[in-house]
Parts: sequence; C-alpha cells; structure tokens
Amino acid sequence: MGILRQPDGMRALSRQWWREGRTLGLVPTMGNLHEGHLSLMRSAVAECDEAVASIYVNPLQFGAGEDFDGYPRTWEADLATLAEAGVATVFAPTDAVMYPPGFATSVEVAGLTDGLCARSRPGHFRGVTTVVMKLLCVVLPHRAYFGEKDYQQLAVIRRMTDDLGLGVQIVPMPTWREPSGLAMSSRNGYLSDDERARAVVLSRAIAAAQSVAAETDQAAAILAAANEVLAAEPLARVDYVELVDAETLEPLERVERPARLCLAVHIGPARLIDNGPVLPPGSPLPLGEG
Ligand code: PAJ
Repeated sequence: MGILRQPDGMRALSRQWWREGRTLGLVPTMGNLHEGHLSLMRSAVAECDEAVASIYVNPLQFGAGEDFDGYPRTWEADLATLAEAGVATVFAPTDAVMYPPGFATSVEVAGLTDGLCARSRPGHFRGVTTVVMKLLCVVLPHRAYFGEKDYQQLAVIRRMTDDLGLGVQIVPMPTWREPSGLAMSSRNGYLSDDERARAVVLSRAIAAAQSVAAETDQAAAILAAANEVLAAEPLARVDYVELVDAETLEPLERVERPARLCLAVHIGPARLIDNGPVLPPGSPLPLGEG
C-alpha cells in the first residue's frame, strides 16, 4: 500500500494519474474505520481507476472541550481494513503540513451552517470545509465520497464544491447500520454495552417519525412521534430533533417536498447523530434510502 504523508508527493502521484487518463476517487476520513467507511471505500474502488483514502483527525473541526484528544486513532487496524477493501493509496498528512505556522485561510459556507449541528458546535463546519477543500486541492479527485450519516456535512460540501466550481463529483452514500438499526460511527466506541443497546433509540425515533409522515404532512405531528420515542429512553439527552428541507436544511412546518428528520442525542459520554428521509405522504420510499 502506498502511504503518502506529504501533499507534494500526493499531488505528484495524482497528476501522473491524470496524465495517464486514470480516474481518481477520494474517501476522506478521520480513521478508526468501520463498515460505514468501508462501504464508501468499496464504491470508490469499484467506480474509479484509483481509490485514495485520507486519514486525518482534523483539529480545526473540534471545538474546545470536544473529543479531539480522545478521538480513537487505530492506524494499524485502519491499514488492514483499507487493504481488505482494495484501497491502494492512503494520504495521511501531519498537522505540521496541514496547518503550518501562519496558516490563516478558511472556507466558510453560509446558510447551511446556521442550524442543526452548527448550533452546538460553532466553527465545526468551517473546520470541515477548510480541511476538505485542502484535501481536494491535494488529491485532485474526479469523485469524492461522503456518507449521508453526516447529512449536514454532505449538504455543506456539495454547496462548497458547486459554489467554488471545483469540478469534483460529490457522491452521496447511504448510512450503514448495525442490524439493530444503530448507525455505525467511530463515536459508538465510547458506549458501554448497555448504552449501545439504548442508542438504538435514535433510529427508532426516525422510524416513528417516518411512519407518522406516511399519514400526515404536519411537521409538529411527525416531530412529536420522534420526541415521544426519545422521551421514553432515560439515557437519551436530546440536543436537537428537527424536520428540515432535504436541500436547504430550513425547518419545515409541512412536508410538501423531500425532507429530512435530523437529530443529535447524547447517550452517556457520546453525542450521536442520525437522520432519515421523510417524503410527502403517499410518496414511495426510494430503495436503499436511509
Ligand atoms: P469520519 O467521521 O471519519 O467519516 C468519514 C466519512 O464516512 C464521512 O463522509 C461520513 O459521513 C462517512 N460515514 C461515517 N459513518 C458512516 C455510516 N454509518 N454510513 C455511511 N457513511 C458513514 O466525516 C468525517 O470523518 C470528517 O468530517 C471529514 C469529512 C473526513 C473531514 O475531516
């Protein structure tokens, strides 16, 4: 496996692939890879001539008091996982090359970063867009793969690549779940067995909202169904539950076009997020959505 730590080396390799007419897919990650990440890797390997995974725990997207120091770093296991997925190239830069002394530039997407996770994580999305912009500039992929698990992140990155005319195709990937319904996440590793079992409440709240949404377009009723499920779980401390337009992420009062139920809930030491599609009553649910 090729492991590149310097942007110049990575860019030289990408330029060579471009000259050879090979297509490149990038899967940006912070490591601690699980099946959710693997599904993105497998698509990149299947759809592109060269698949590059980046592993970088980006300090810029963690706020004060968040889990940057404790974020799980599992380098050896990650390399084995990437090899299994058929990813031959890893870009794993250091803080020193990503943010050298004097670094003063950031990328900020307005509007989409006002609500949902941005309220409790100020500056988070500026950190995400800045690092993703840097990764795209170095790796120069034709396609970049992002999970719907982080729905707001996906929307923000799409906006950034469109607005700045980067010419990269952003490929959205469905949320990978455990058989219980729990969305896979590196932060699930913070949970005890009991907490992990109870964390299923997030996906159950989404399912409850979706079943009410089959009968009514009223956001209040749909949100009430989700909140009722969450209220029944004593370990769940709700950060937010919102029903938003699937594209603009603006809160909705009625579901007249595709919407998204998004939630963030603290379970024990972990802040978990999840989301699911909510369509106007009577619409068939597209296969594989969720
Ligand atoms: P990370 O949390 O490591 O996630 C990397 C990618 O995997 C993201 O696109 C995320 O949405 C996707 N992913 C995570 N869990 C998933 C699941 N259960 N199903 C499908 N996809 C899943 O997101 C980040 O890192 C960072 O913010 C990053 C984009 C790398 C910028 O630092």
